Amino acid sequence: MPTEEITAAAAGTWVLGDRTVNRMGFGSMRITADPDRDRALTVLRRAVELGVNHIDTAAFYVSPGGTLRVGTGPARYATELIRAALAPYPADLVIATKVGPGYDPRDGFTEALTPAQLRAQVEENLRRLGRDHLDLVNLRLYRRPSAVPLAERFGALADLRAAGLIRHLGLSNARPEHLDEVRDIAPVVCVQNAYGVDAYREDDEFVRLCGARRIAYVPFFALAGTRREAGATAERNEALLAVARAHDATPHQVRLAWTLHQGPHVLAIPGTGDPEHLVANIAAAGLRLTPEDLARLG
Ligand SMILES: NC(=O)c1ccc[n+]([C@@H]2O[C@H](COP(=O)([O-])OP(=O)(O)OC[C@H]3O[C@@H](n4cnc5c(N)ncnc54)[C@H](OP(=O)(O)O)[C@@H]3O)[C@@H](O)[C@H]2O)c1
Repeated sequence: MPTEEITAAAAGTWVLGDRTVNRMGFGSMRITADPDRDRALTVLRRAVELGVNHIDTAAFYVSPGGTLRVGTGPARYATELIRAALAPYPADLVIATKVGPGYDPRDGFTEALTPAQLRAQVEENLRRLGRDHLDLVNLRLYRRPSAVPLAERFGALADLRAAGLIRHLGLSNARPEHLDEVRDIAPVVCVQNAYGVDAYREDDEFVRLCGARRIAYVPFFALAGTRREAGATAERNEALLAVARAHDATPHQVRLAWTLHQGPHVLAIPGTGDPEHLVANIAAAGLRLTPEDLARLG
């Protein structure tokens, strides 16, 4: 399929709280993996040129040492790369970040539980991104029980929202009951969970529930699937390969198109540090699958 001329706008838009974004966005976890800083900045700038106005990040996306334990040399923070590439920020750019997990060069991974710890993470994001408020903050949950109830942690973020440091709130790694637990505290504009055509399909019903409640569902690992941080690999899914051939597309593009076909409230945030992959991924915004394709993909 043609690529360069298809922009993120081809996927249509969704309103996150009060901010309109193109449904094809960008995930910034992978840009820290490349020791070539200029290449990371190029990817970010090119994403915005190609219409991306929703970028996902986290202050703990840092390499080497952080989420992607690769490479050597000075720490590369995704948030700081975003600032270096894009500040002063375009008015329509929504940067979504997440708190809960943190990274400290001395202690490694940490978890913010108390209001003071959560505030410190919000302030770290503000500082590294060079902003006076954060557009969207996801509280990233763990599957294990937390020492501090969700309502208390979400309430702490709602206080920061009321104070103007945060515009909108979301939940990540969440389950439907979590939406109910925080319902009376502050609006949830998005759920960010692992989900893809052949991974984590136990979330199918949650995707539909989010749509019914007008909450954006933002899948991560839409390309990597159950390989998670290890990333995408050679495609073995026969149905994906066949649909890709039929559309003269790549299997990765079909994975992203499938994601976008799960509902108007589903937003894509594929991650890459590779400028060519970026262009191909954004072009998937224009890939229309037929009902037969969707049935074949399951
Ligand atoms: N809330 C959470 O807990 C959570 C967890 C993980 C991630 N996230 C967010 O979700 C975003 C997406 O997740 P992700 O980046 O981990 O995984 P992903 O988007 O599913 O896949 C990224 C992997 O696919 C490869 N890739 C990307 N485009 C490709 C293409 N066109 N052809 C071949 N390979 C391609 C990338 O390698 P190359 O760099 O070589 O292209 C990388 O290995 C992250 O960037 C992050 O912002 C959130």
